[in-house]
Amino acid sequence: MQTIQRILSGVRPTGDIHLGNYLGAIRNWVKLQEISRERLFCIVDMHALTTSDDAHNLANNTRTVAAAYIACGINPDTSAIFAQSQVPAHLELAWILSCITPLGWLNRMTQFKDKAGSDREKAFLGLYSYPVLMAADILIYNATHVPVGDDQKQHVELARDIAGAFNRHYQTETFILPEPHIIGTATRVMSLRDGSKKMSKSDLSDYSRINLMDDPDAIVLKIKKSKTDSDPIPEKFEDLGSRVEAKNLITIYATLTDQSCDAACAQFSGQTFSTLKNQLADALVNVLSPIREKMHFLLNEKSELDKILKVGAEKANDLAVPHLKEIRKIIGIL
Ligand code: AMP
Ligand code: TRP
Repeated sequence: MQTIQRILSGVRPTGDIHLGNYLGAIRNWVKLQEISRERLFCIVDMHALTTSDDAHNLANNTRTVAAAYIACGINPDTSAIFAQSQVPAHLELAWILSCITPLGWLNRMTQFKDKAGSDREKAFLGLYSYPVLMAADILIYNATHVPVGDDQKQHVELARDIAGAFNRHYQTETFILPEPHIIGTATRVMSLRDGSKKMSKSDLSDYSRINLMDDPDAIVLKIKKSKTDSDPIPEKFEDLGSRVEAKNLITIYATLTDQSCDAACAQFSGQTFSTLKNQLADALVNVLSPIREKMHFLLNEKSELDKILKVGAEKANDLAVPHLKEIRKIIGIL
């Protein structure tokens, strides 16, 4: 079995943490615990500042994401769980890296284009340089693998390019080139209201996503109201063709029940989506109820959570501080 040296990943503490975050990222991190030597799971609160509304209630959102990591199965005794802001080396390295990152590379980032909207002149610098801070999050620890959903592939590839640029510029081998680690069947979970859009925290409609804190009634209602079509389910997944909403529901069901999308299609072949929706809602309630209950429990124990974040930050600083010292020496800082 493959052994992975060092994993780093993160979630922005903005709004509700949802099924896309779970299936595309956190669930994979839980599985990777068994086959990796070291793991760092960050709550990227400095990244949350790039979308100003999200900065509202940042401390509590940070605790909620920490609670979600633990409730989903990340073990804080064997993985470092910490807030990005508690390890200042991320920010210093981000500046250093920004001095060797060509604008042309940032101009290619599709997430900036999406988030900046049509009036780019009004977008903030932090949103534009967001991927450089993300590169620093990864490179400060020399993480070898970065398990993320499909939407973050471009950012991890940029981190790889920046690492290579630094190594060439200073003729060193300081940075390991990190690999995006995009695994599982649900690398891109789509909105329940529009199968062409990613499920996201920023969608104004709460019916577009299943939140990890949703209770069973909300889950059942959201699945019932989710967009589908009236055609029967085919035997094979590829025969769903351009039925994007149908594909999304099958993919979610398959992932939750640990089977392939073809196997899930075969299970419901010839039936309509109302049958699938009932079983999907049951599967979601089964998987998410214990997570929701544990999150509530942890969020009632704020001081315990804060202690976990403190210990996590100590572990992270123990790795980051000496690496930053080495980097400062390479670039010739007094
Ligand atoms: P974010 O909520 O943007 O901070 O994302 C945190 C992690 O969840 C990243 O690894 C994302 O790639 C992943 N993620 C976010 N939304 C989705 C989605 N709709 N489908 C799959 N993965 C997602
Ligand atoms: N940009 C990521 C997202 O929006 C979050 C993130 C920030 C991250 N730093 C990271 C993910 C480092 C992995 C590694 O989802």
